[in-house]
Amino acid sequence: MRIAVYPGSFDPPTVGHLDIIQRAAKLCDTLIVVCMVNPRKKSSLFPPGERVEMLRLITAGIPNVEVDSADILLADYAKLKGAAVVVKGLRAMSDFEMEFQMALLNRKLNAELDTVFLTAAENCQYLSSGAVKEIGALGGNISEFVPGEILERVKGVLGYGQRGC
Ligand code: PNS
Repeated sequence: MRIAVYPGSFDPPTVGHLDIIQRAAKLCDTLIVVCMVNPRKKSSLFPPGERVEMLRLITAGIPNVEVDSADILLADYAKLKGAAVVVKGLRAMSDFEMEFQMALLNRKLNAELDTVFLTAAENCQYLSSGAVKEIGALGGNISEFVPGEILERVKGVLGYGQRGC
């Protein structure tokens, strides 16, 4: 049984995340999408429970995907779950250095753990949860960036329709 873990903040999940989930799920028996704490991100829009709910909604049609949350080291979480592979999405330029460092650190912390990078889809290279929040908070159109199942929920939290000059 090949178990892989796809960790992230998912605040909120984007179509870029969903693309990685769909492709990664084809490469393993079970893919655990786990909502984790990123100490470099000081504040979040959605509490972890809501991010898990949204991830469950958008992955409901993929039978070998499980969704979880955890506030421990990724290296320890993978060991607990019997996962030998971490999946990460890699966008051109912006992600490489940090992801390279995290992959090496995670293998140092858990010698059984390898990181596999999937290149982000061409139309998602510029996309991030942060960009969705920024565009959405200023009333821009995020419908191409957020999966349809959670679009209204994300728009609601970002205050669509409540802005006025
Ligand atoms: O979506 P993000 O914010 O880029 O995801 C980063 C995340 C959550 C995967 C990363 O911060 C992480 O692995 N957090 C868990 C804590 C941990 O193991 N930190 C050490 C990484 S070397």
